[in-house]
Amino acid sequence: MNKISKAAIIGGGVIGAGWIARLIENGVDVNVFDPASDAQQKVNAVLVNSREAYAKLTDGERRSEGAVQFFSGTQKAVADADLIVESVPERLDIKQTVYAEIEHYASSDALIASSTSGIMPSDLQSKMRHPERLFVAHPFNPVYLLPLVELVAGKKTDPKTIERASEIYKWLGMHPLHVKKEIEAFIADRLLEAIWRESLWLVKDGIATTQDIDDAVRYGFGLRYAQMGVFDTYRVAGGEAGMRHFMAQFGPCLQWPWTKLMDVPEFNDELVDLITNQSDEQSGHMSIREMEKIRDDNLITILRGLKDNRWGAGETLGEYEKSLST
Ligand SMILES: NC(=O)c1ccc[n+]([C@@H]2O[C@H](COP(=O)([O-])OP(=O)(O)OC[C@H]3O[C@@H](n4cnc5c(N)ncnc54)[C@H](O)[C@@H]3O)[C@@H](O)[C@H]2O)c1
Repeated sequence: MNKISKAAIIGGGVIGAGWIARLIENGVDVNVFDPASDAQQKVNAVLVNSREAYAKLTDGERRSEGAVQFFSGTQKAVADADLIVESVPERLDIKQTVYAEIEHYASSDALIASSTSGIMPSDLQSKMRHPERLFVAHPFNPVYLLPLVELVAGKKTDPKTIERASEIYKWLGMHPLHVKKEIEAFIADRLLEAIWRESLWLVKDGIATTQDIDDAVRYGFGLRYAQMGVFDTYRVAGGEAGMRHFMAQFGPCLQWPWTKLMDVPEFNDELVDLITNQSDEQSGHMSIREMEKIRDDNLITILRGLKDNRWGAGETLGEYEKSLST
């Protein structure tokens, strides 16, 4: 059974709110627990954006929206949930304390998904009584628009848990990517971390501003990456001679000092000030809400274009829309 009717979100910050949006869009009722006094207000602001985004993204009739209910503790929030999503801060001790509470009150066959960006699921589940139902479901912001979710099993995760989770995320319009072996930071964040480290070096060394780096991405290879990934892009770049030719041509660069990826800049106040000041100068004239709206509108246009071409993330969107009409 791939449908679920009730989910619990523990931690309603940026990511928790994005999960709430995706779940209610698909008719799932969602219980939320977040101790922050402004949590409900922040979630509601995300739901304003997501409702607007889905109205522009999805053709045809949408599922009738699920209800959101806020609770003052984990106990009632998880009691009748089929899927429990942990989206609390990225600290192992906080997450393990949350799992202990969840296990105390949740149904024994409820799935428990962690949104962690990089902690190994084996570490997350190490103190659990029923670790077989815990897995990582790593999403990407905004969760309500981006289809990728990386699924990662720990040593004690039951393979059936991943199978069941995979079906649920497909039903939610997502593209579950099962990471074959557990590793810190999984796949996408390892790639993003490499770009982030190199970007910090380029700004620190005065070679580029934050604006220059963003332009280098968005006017060039960023556009390619939305439709073909690393390997297909380079395959095409190799011309008719293909990948073998491409590798022979650029292989020697691996030995040249083209990157500083094995080294990281020192994280200190000077670096934080340098990056923050440039970023403020670049985009400080816009509020985060305005930037989110621009981001969402651009993503919707890209996704719809890819849907017309039946390609990549657009193919996922097309399949999802077909499932809405059946
Ligand atoms: N921000 C991203 O782009 C991103 C992307 C993918 C995954 N993640 C992961 O998602 C998780 C959440 O990140 P975020 O960016 O939403 O953080 P956030 O700070 O926006 O939200 C965390 C929320 O958890 C709440 N919280 C703290 N302790 C809690 C507890 N004991 N019980 C319930 N709620 C509690 C906080 O009040 C806060 O609202 C992290 O593991 C992070 O690594 C983040």
